[in-house]
Amino acid sequence: MAIDPREYLSQEPSRVVTVDDPSRGGGPVAIYDFLGKTAHYTSSFGLQWKKYRDVQIDRLNGAHGSYNHLQLFTQGDLSIFQNATCLEIGSGAGRFTDYLVDLCKTVITIEPSQALTVNAALGAPNLLPAHADLFHVPIRREKVDIVFCRGVTQHTSDTKAAVRRLFDYVRPGGMVMFDVYPLRWYTPFVTKYWLRPFLRHIKSPRFMELAERWVPKLLKVKSKYVNRALPDNIFGRNMANQIIPIADFTQSKSLNEQQQVLWSILDTVDMYTPRYDKPVSFQSILRTLESVGARDTKANKSTFCFKAIAP
Ligand SMILES: C[S@@+](CC[C@H](N)C(=O)[O-])C[C@H]1O[C@@H](n2cnc3c(N)ncnc32)[C@H](O)[C@@H]1O
Repeated sequence: MAIDPREYLSQEPSRVVTVDDPSRGGGPVAIYDFLGKTAHYTSSFGLQWKKYRDVQIDRLNGAHGSYNHLQLFTQGDLSIFQNATCLEIGSGAGRFTDYLVDLCKTVITIEPSQALTVNAALGAPNLLPAHADLFHVPIRREKVDIVFCRGVTQHTSDTKAAVRRLFDYVRPGGMVMFDVYPLRWYTPFVTKYWLRPFLRHIKSPRFMELAERWVPKLLKVKSKYVNRALPDNIFGRNMANQIIPIADFTQSKSLNEQQQVLWSILDTVDMYTPRYDKPVSFQSILRTLESVGARDTKANKSTFCFKAIAP
């Protein structure tokens, strides 16, 4: 039975958009729109996910990349989703929504960009999709057991404020799960952050064309010359990533060769086109969690994934 939006949403949407051919079938699906027709700064994500929708959706491409990442993100405990109502914020093309609808009782997924219209889980009877911004999610918080927010906070105008906001959308004692891009001592030297101010001005469709043409070539140059010239250790690999500053999935064993190239193109677009990219230090996130009264924090220093209980 379809979900009654009034049970979970605290406001009336400005309009309802219908998607006629949802990925999971089952006839037209309603998307509740709280943004209206004004352009949101995430439009580059919409473009990216519409074009590369299937690349990271395990169910559609036969890989396990997203499942492995979900395990990592939840710090190895998928049982937390059992019978839970989960609010997912910033779902992109739905690589995790597609698992969450199978794992949870109910999923409300929020995404401001047009990516929501192609979310891979659309059509699942326990999914409620809404166009909204992380800072203004019209949710009845007492209904939400878990907030799930992966790969999003650093792409907002204020990463720490975004983290704090997540705690406003969950019932007392509920769980909040998120990650951030790491700010480490060497982050200011990372080539991406030097190039972004220039490359960010290239329009997203053009950047995507360039990435499609150049990333496969650069991956070859990297493996043939750069990797071989450097030591095969963490230092050598990091140096190679700075010399050829593109995403590189060629070492990812769970993907075949074609998938490795596609993931590299997609993630290179993701590195350079978003409006905001604001990493934060580990200690700073721990202090932010303390400031909202979060408890039982589980934080992973190498992945910068955080899990905490709301006060
Ligand atoms: C790197 S993608 C991650 C998508 C998905 N969570 C995943 O892991 O594949 C970042 C997503 O955050 C969304 N996003 C950025 N700013 C946002 C905001 N203020 N509110 C909600 N979502 C936002 C983007 O539209 C985009 O889909």
